[in-house]
Amino acid sequence: MPSKEQIAKVVECLNTARSMELNAIVQYLNQHYGLDGDDYAKLAGEMKKIAIDEMRHAEAFAERIKDIDNALEPTAKLQPDTIKKGQEVEEIYPFDADAEERTIEQYGKFAAICRENNDYVSAVLFEKIIAVEQAHFNYFSDTGEHVRKLGNSFLAKQVDKE
Ligand SMILES: [Fe+2]
Ligand SMILES: [Fe+2]
Repeated sequence: MPSKEQIAKVVECLNTARSMELNAIVQYLNQHYGLDGDDYAKLAGEMKKIAIDEMRHAEAFAERIKDIDNALEPTAKLQPDTIKKGQEVEEIYPFDADAEERTIEQYGKFAAICRENNDYVSAVLFEKIIAVEQAHFNYFSDTGEHVRKLGNSFLAKQVDKE
């Protein structure tokens, strides 16, 4: 069992991750509205699904904090501070791929910290979520390539509703 000090270190990782997820939710929803406003219904729909994945992650981290700390300290920043607004479709995908890449790297470090502090359940939670962030990264990076290489012929196909 982790000691009190070890739990505090793990909770710090979980809370930072929760802030990152909350930031991602607001960023992706903002992009979802923008894409929807530009009538790229398919891209907007995918963006919304990814924002919902991030909500599941924020909640999973919150649940884990409650499980190990017995009281969820509201230290996660609820006010996102790095939201970019009004991005063009060409900017959105490389931007989001970078964000996912940073998240994957950070969560890998957090998983290691959890393991060092004897909390294997939190380590596995981070590892499971890394797999989802990798799928997000692949989607953003592939879509960014399509926008870059195919341009308008790709974008014209995004207008139809599924
Ligand atoms: Fe996430
Ligand atoms: Fe993600």
